[in-house]
Amino acid sequence: MASGRYLILGGSGYIGRHLYARLGPDRALATWYTHPFPGGLHFDSGSVPIADLIRGRGAFTHAFMLMGISKLLECERDKVASHRANVINAQSVIDQLRALNITPVFASTDVVFDGTRGGYREEDPTHPLVTYGQQKLTVERYLLASAAQGGIIVRLAKVYGIRRGEGTLLANWFDALTAGQEIHCADDQCFCPVFIDDVVDGLLALVERNLSGVYHLCGPTCCSRRQLLEMFLKHYVARFGPVRNPRIHYRSINAFNFSERWPLDTSMATKKLEAAIGWQPTPPDLLCQRFVAGL
Ligand SMILES: NC(=O)c1ccc[n+]([C@@H]2O[C@H](COP(=O)([O-])OP(=O)(O)OC[C@H]3O[C@@H](n4cnc5c(N)ncnc54)[C@H](OP(=O)(O)O)[C@@H]3O)[C@@H](O)[C@H]2O)c1
Repeated sequence: MASGRYLILGGSGYIGRHLYARLGPDRALATWYTHPFPGGLHFDSGSVPIADLIRGRGAFTHAFMLMGISKLLECERDKVASHRANVINAQSVIDQLRALNITPVFASTDVVFDGTRGGYREEDPTHPLVTYGQQKLTVERYLLASAAQGGIIVRLAKVYGIRRGEGTLLANWFDALTAGQEIHCADDQCFCPVFIDDVVDGLLALVERNLSGVYHLCGPTCCSRRQLLEMFLKHYVARFGPVRNPRIHYRSINAFNFSERWPLDTSMATKKLEAAIGWQPTPPDLLCQRFVAGL
């Protein structure tokens, strides 16, 4: 294993928690903003200087920038606050990290693309439709403007896990199915959802090889939300028997009455990541199977 030490800004979030669990306190310092956890440090990206945060805590090679407002609807609902958190504060964090000689690893998104064709490669033109994607792209460009100083941009697809109660795709469907609740599912939005453990592997492989630049990090299969739900249902039914009175409603993502138009196909190509780290993510069918097997 390489000898890097890492700052996890946003260590109380979904990805940050898993990254910190893998690295442990000897190799990482992780932060929280409103959700404290043992060993974590409070960090407000708008007010806490990173130099103060790490003073007396040794040297760090990289900082995973996982902090900010990650919900698309929240970014759109409060554009001023989300711009401050996701753009202004993120740019300031990049400046501070560079001054401290710590390489920033910025978590971006597949919705920097407009979803008109899918299969996007790193060098393809970006054109975000939603506020969240616009904010991420602004920070990507800021980081790339000083790329000579190093830095990694990781464009993540939708991340999910295989544990009940964690609030990601399969867990939410499982809860709704078992409670007999309605499921409203888009049938025309395609993406390459990616397993949280693979995300942790991929992020660590990038920093341990000391790489820089833009990388697409996503699952191996392009599917619609509907296709993923049907995959999950197949395993759910095989394990628990037929769902009584399933109340599943399919419709277009843009029939959900969001005030912004959502991109339809944000699937990404991962050839660059395959060449860089030997990326071999877990297929969603296997993850659906593992989810129900673990119940
Ligand atoms: N999860 C995905 O599917 C996905 C996909 C593409 C890109 N991404 C990006 O990857 C990153 C991590 O995603 P995630 O799912 O782990 O997000 P998350 O669960 O929403 O976590 C966000 C983190 O940011 C912290 N935070 C929020 N406001 C802050 C502030 N003002 N100062 C400092 N910290 C602040 C939160 O702290 P508290 O919880 O303690 O308040 C939390 O630790 C995000 O940038 C997200 O946009 C995620």
